[in-house]
This record gives sequence, structure tokens and C-alpha cells, in this order.
Amino acid sequence: MTIGKYYLTTPIYYVNAAPHSGHASTTIAPHTIARLKRMQGYDVVLTTGTDEHGTKVERAARAQGKTPKEYADIISADFKNTWQKLDIQIDRFQRTTAENHARLVNRLFESLLANGYIYKGTYTGLYAVVSEAFVNDAKPGDIDPETGKPYEEVTEENYFFKLSAFQDRLLELYEQHTEFIQPDFRRNEVLAFVKQGLSDVSITRTSISWGIPVQHDLKHVFYVWFDALATYMSAVDGEDRWPADLHLIGKEILRFHAIYWPAFLMAAGWELPKRVFAHGWLLFENDKMSKSRGNIVRPVPIAEVMGVDALRYFLFREIPFGQDGSFSFDALVGRYNSDLANGLGNLASRTLSMIQQYRGGIVPASGGDPAITEAATAGANTALAAYDSFDFSKALETVWTIIAAVDKFIVERDLWQEFVKSLPPPKTKDTAT
Ligand code: MSP
Repeated sequence: MTIGKYYLTTPIYYVNAAPHSGHASTTIAPHTIARLKRMQGYDVVLTTGTDEHGTKVERAARAQGKTPKEYADIISADFKNTWQKLDIQIDRFQRTTAENHARLVNRLFESLLANGYIYKGTYTGLYAVVSEAFVNDAKPGDIDPETGKPYEEVTEENYFFKLSAFQDRLLELYEQHTEFIQPDFRRNEVLAFVKQGLSDVSITRTSISWGIPVQHDLKHVFYVWFDALATYMSAVDGEDRWPADLHLIGKEILRFHAIYWPAFLMAAGWELPKRVFAHGWLLFENDKMSKSRGNIVRPVPIAEVMGVDALRYFLFREIPFGQDGSFSFDALVGRYNSDLANGLGNLASRTLSMIQQYRGGIVPASGGDPAITEAATAGANTALAAYDSFDFSKALETVWTIIAAVDKFIVERDLWQEFVKSLPPPKTKDTAT
């Protein structure tokens, strides 16, 4: 029996770099929500995947003497394996090179065209290769901070999407559905941005070849973001799943999810996702963890040494999810020792020993101690509410208040001393055989 469906997504990852702990955090978060929703009785689907088209991938492949597809196959498999090794249940893994995806992207384009939201034009602009976007406010000669080189000037024939026609409808969406963009401070940023007015966006390219062909005009391939956003639908194509209940994403891609994506869907006359939550970045030495900055920490070796639970616990206890936070090995070891080994581990071991010693290894049926029952109920409720607002660190902190209540109970009742006294005397030399 399920109490309803719940569909949530991670962003799909670029295949120009192997998975790191920042990506892991972005995937563990929806996985945690998926587990919680499953416990509550929902029929849950969690999707992720890989974003495989575009200039960056073409270049990375060339640098390794591979075709873009060969290269994408390797990195995409690396992502898939990483999620397996981190024990993350992925229900659908969608690649943008999948055939059903290309069909859906073309269907979306055809709907926009049929509804009068597409026109052909030319565009000249400065292009940021790493983020695959024209940079509106850059001047010729400006340096792209991602590459350290000047932005590239690109002129080409494009199909444009009339984003400008959606300003009012988007503002209406944000106002009527305050939960659509979360957290609130991010919602306000988007509101302010959209209120300034929106320019139309080009959604096809003629200057690159590694992309999904536009069936309507085969000189063009789709712009990577038009292609990528549509995976949220192609991943569950043919299932009765859309609209998504939740897109969990990083803060730097909020504009695409909170402005472009709902506008494309409105233009097509398709249903909108219900919520977009943007989280902060995992930093390493005060900089966003990323391959181009050379400051990445891989998640799998940590999980191999400490276990996946320790990695998950650390990432979500240490760093408030909506904000940026720093990864450090010292903090990881500190949390492991203080919270997991001493806090949770110690309590579990003491409790199990006492159950063994005093109750013959069987947990007795009892209503429980009222103070602990109260702490546990209140703690569980607070933790659930915190998960509902994606406040993972608060949810975990709350769980530790239950641990503290049980520790206090044991100390106050002096149960542990009683247990120690009840142990047989240590063996001496005389009695040892
Ligand atoms: N391919 C696009 C997303 C398309 S979604 C339709 C993309 N890919 S990405 O690989 O660059 O990033 C994927 C996600 O990983 C983003 O949400 C991004 O915020 C997240 N992270 C990448 N580095 C991160 C950190 N250092 N910390 C936390 N999350 C980070 O953008």
C-alpha cells in the first residue's frame, strides 16, 4: 500500500570530470529524502544521470584521443559506479545520449514551435565554455575566471525561445506557489532577477556538432541546457510520473531550473515541477570543490575507510545544506570520533551489553521510560519537520538530543555502574589457566 507517488531528481552531471564529494553530497541529499519518503509509505522514484553533450565534453574527449561518445561512456559509468559504491539507490539513470531522450527533446521543441514561442535569428556573444552559456554582461577581452582566458566571441544562427513573453507568468508562479523556489532567500534572488525583465534565449547551436540534432532543421543541435533539463522528463518517459515533486540542485544552476525550465514547460503547455531547492557548495580550502580548481576530494576512498554512513553523516551534519560549507579531513575525523564512535557507538554498545547482562538478550516489552519516550517523540517530530525543509544538519542534531537523553538516563540511574559491578571479577594470575 502506498500513500502516493513521489518523484525527485538530482541534477545530471557533466561528464567532463570524474565524481567528487560535492557531487556526492548533491546525490546523497535526494537519496536521503527518498528513503524517508519510502519509510512514510510513498512510491518513490529517484533519478539521476549524465549530461554528455557540448563543447566541454568534445574538448575533453579530444584531449584523450577518444570520440565524445567513447569518452562519455567511461565517465558516465564512473558516476553510476560511484553511486553504487556509496550505496545510493538510483531508480533511473538517464543519459542525454539515450535515444528516448533525443526524442523527448525534439518533442518539447516541436511543442514550443507549434505554440509560437520559437523564432530563428542570429546571435553574437561572448561565450563561457565551462558553463556553456553566453555571458550577457561581459565585454570583449574580459577574462573567463573558469579558464583564465578571454571569453570566446561566437556568432551563429540560432533558434530562439521567447523567454521574454513569460515574465508575468513566472512572477505569478513564484507568488502563488511560494514553495516553488526554496530556500526563501534564493526565491527572492530569482524574483528580483525576473522583475528586471527577461531576454529571449537561444536554444540551438550551429557552431558545434556534439549535441542532439534538431529534427526540424538538421543544421542545428540543441543547446546543452535545453537538452539537459528535459532529462527530468525523459528519465520517466512512458511512466505516469511527471511532474516531479522535487528538483534538488546546486545554487549556481538555479536560474536554469527556476526560470528557463518552468518557462519551457509553460510554453509547451506541460505540467510544472512542484519544487526546486537550491543548496550551497561544498568547499575545500575556501573554494568550490571542482576539477578545474584542482581541489577535489573523492568520496569513495572515504566511504571505504569509514563506511558510507560516516561519510553521509559528516557531509550533512557538518554543513547546513542551504549554505556553503568547508570539507576538512580534521573535521571528518573529529565528527567520526566524537559523534559516531563516542556518542552513538558508545551508547549502542553500553545498551546492548546491558540488555545481554540484565535481560538475557531480550528487549522486554514495556511502555518505556516516560522522559525518554517524550524526548524520542519530540525529537522524531522535530527531525521530520527539519527533513521536510531540507535542513539536514538540524535533523541530525535533533537525533543526537535523543542520544543525550538516553545517556542522561543511564547516568542518573547509575545503570552503567551497576552493570560494571555485576561483571565477574577480572581473572588474576592464580586463577588463570
Ligand atoms: N550538467 C549540469 C546540470 C544539469 S541539470 C539538468 C551541471 N553539472 S555539474 O556536474 O557541473 O554539477 C552538477 C551538480 O553538482 C550541481 O547541482 C552542482 O551544484 C553540484 N556540485 C558540483 N560541485 C559541487 C560542490 N563543490 N559542492 C556541492 N555541489 C556541487 O551543472
